[in-house]
Amino acid sequence: MKLPAQYGKETDLPSLGPIGVFDSGIGGLTVVAALRHLLPNEDVFYLGDTARVPYGGKSQETVERYSVEISKLLLAEHAKIIVVACSTSSALALSRLRELLPVPVIGMVEVGAIAAVRASHGKRIGVIGTKATISSGAYKQAIQKICIGAHVVSRACPLLVPLVEEGMFEDEITRLALQRYLEPLLRSSIDTLVLGCTHYPLLYQAIKQAVGPRIVVVNSGKNCALAVKEMLTSFGIARELHTGELRVALTDSAEGFLRVAEQALGLRIGEVELLGL
Ligand code: DGL
Repeated sequence: MKLPAQYGKETDLPSLGPIGVFDSGIGGLTVVAALRHLLPNEDVFYLGDTARVPYGGKSQETVERYSVEISKLLLAEHAKIIVVACSTSSALALSRLRELLPVPVIGMVEVGAIAAVRASHGKRIGVIGTKATISSGAYKQAIQKICIGAHVVSRACPLLVPLVEEGMFEDEITRLALQRYLEPLLRSSIDTLVLGCTHYPLLYQAIKQAVGPRIVVVNSGKNCALAVKEMLTSFGIARELHTGELRVALTDSAEGFLRVAEQALGLRIGEVELLGL
């Protein structure tokens, strides 16, 4: 099956390899949980770049370089599709990855924007993400591309990724940080909040508590998994009659915390591999 140009380089696609998924750390496991749920026949290979997390304060050049290097490790594992389960890489490096890689590449921004526009009644949408994601304006552009009049308010929340990587999902410090970050968005009367970073769904309860019941909180993991399913089916590379397995590798050890995420997301992760860059 040939791959249409907008998803990557034109090439023949393999069908038996895993879905390759990457993030700077463990946040992308929130997307893996959705993939495992929706696509139980597919193998998934997850790579967390824990040696270099966080990506969110780094330049476009660096995020592009890291994203290309990590994707090449996934290709070496014969990934048939690459899911950029990192909003920062999706915002800053997606075009570069699609130019270079010989397999389809799916990012978080477009799926998040579509889900937000669908969920929002009044088209007043808040977006939170890393500094790099928010200053790229990628979510705002993607939302306004599909809904021209949408009012979009964005806020970078640089403390949240380290809090998540520390497993502080329900901590008082996390609650205070959220309160501080979300206050200006709440003042702008948003009706929908996009979690524009794949670490943030691990804070879903705390975020929901901070914004109250009237604001819809959009977690793009499920929408991303739906897009992957659609793509695998349309390219004829979906697997059937196979019990999918999950392999997890990191570029540096972060095992302790990984176990916390495993429990929070209901994932079964066996031995964690260490992959050198
Ligand atoms: N999960 C990554 C994202 O979605 C975190 C970025 C970071 O490492 O700062 O943006």
